[in-house]
Amino acid sequence: MAAALHLNAKPFNLCSPSIRLPKSSPSPFRVKCSAGTSPSRRYNIALLPGDGIGPEVIAVAKDVLNFAASLEGIGFDYKEMPVGGAALDLTGVPLPDETLLAAKESDAILFGAIGGYKWDDNPKHLKPETGLLQLRKGLGVFANLRPATVFPQLVDASTLKREVAEGVDLMVVRELTGGIYFGQPRGFKTSENGEEIGFNTEVYAAQEIDRVARVAFNNARKRQGRVCSVDKANVLEASILWRKRVTAIAAEYPDVELSHMYVDNAAMQLIREPKQFDTILTNNIFGDILSDAASMITGSIGMLPSASLRESGPGLFEPIHGSAPDIAGQDKANPLATVLSAAMLLKYGLGEENAAKRIEAAVLDTLDKGFRTGDIYSAGCKRVGCKEMGEELLKSIESHKLATV
Ligand SMILES: NC(=O)c1ccc[n+]([C@@H]2O[C@H](COP(=O)([O-])OP(=O)(O)OC[C@H]3O[C@@H](n4cnc5c(N)ncnc54)[C@H](O)[C@@H]3O)[C@@H](O)[C@H]2O)c1
Repeated sequence: MAAALHLNAKPFNLCSPSIRLPKSSPSPFRVKCSAGTSPSRRYNIALLPGDGIGPEVIAVAKDVLNFAASLEGIGFDYKEMPVGGAALDLTGVPLPDETLLAAKESDAILFGAIGGYKWDDNPKHLKPETGLLQLRKGLGVFANLRPATVFPQLVDASTLKREVAEGVDLMVVRELTGGIYFGQPRGFKTSENGEEIGFNTEVYAAQEIDRVARVAFNNARKRQGRVCSVDKANVLEASILWRKRVTAIAAEYPDVELSHMYVDNAAMQLIREPKQFDTILTNNIFGDILSDAASMITGSIGMLPSASLRESGPGLFEPIHGSAPDIAGQDKANPLATVLSAAMLLKYGLGEENAAKRIEAAVLDTLDKGFRTGDIYSAGCKRVGCKEMGEELLKSIESHKLATV
């Protein structure tokens, strides 16, 4: 089945689930995952668990994805492939050709995390992280969507004061395949006076800016209708062009309000008053930094999903956290970022919004019931491991399977 990306899909508003859940206590029985009607739509999913906690969170997300989708008549054919350190150990490279091919031939890719101490001293081209950069580049997924939503249940887990964090619901749209991370020339050389120099190039072509700007404007349309474009146009030529092109593209979206902000001010405003933001549009390096900062507002990196998209072709869906080698193999990982990435896969990758809503609602319901992994635990809640969190999500989906979406 050809992949259809839905850049105009409805907002990923985790605080306002559109499934209305009847109040109920947790199901006392174990959930069978084969429930639902026989699939009327099938999709090919490339499953790339990776390293560390990657396989643990992917196992939970796969079960949740299967169950929620089955209730909407959707079935999946999975192709599980190695990436990162796992691929290095198996094949000697962090992104084998077979993995990239399976990803390109799929309808969507669900990715865990890569990296670990074992490969830390490898040369750059043999680092697990290089496999992820190659995958993003190989797929041409130029727009990275990172929602940062403060769940009402987790507002006290935020590092910011309650009144600052409460109600934050923003989306960072980051350009992912250009800018200084890929620009040429780059490298090392020796200066005229014999000093060692390292250098990189921040470079953007107009069409690279235009296409990611359109993704941001389309998303803002389905949210609160506001785009704040973040750049450093007071210093950098690439940012001057960025601002000029974003302003030009804004003319296509008269219903969306555009503002511009310098990145240093944006960093400050994210901490001072994050609620002022709806959609933040920015380049590769600024988006990398700002989206991590935004993630902390929500309480834990273990809660944040992401989607990486292009105009057509399969999207890449992954939690924003890494492989967390400090807790890997201990059943301590929070699977919710990956579970919510699976919801983004359904919504943005396949256009299966109803199944996505089932997952989003189950996450809220499970948090409402007080289940917490260690990273989001607070006194009075029920501490659970990765697997048990997954079981609770399945129970929630089961107990609300007749809810109207
Ligand atoms: N997209 C990716 O795969 C990705 C992203 C970032 C880092 N990495 C790699 O991951 C490895 C570890 O990097 P790091 O420690 O800087 O970042 P990390 O995100 O793996 O971990 C940072 C901290 O957050 C905790 N944490 C992360 N995810 C969690 C979850 N789901 N549940 C509970 N706690 C969680 C970890 O235990 C750790 O204390 C490195 O090799 C790094 O290169 C990979």
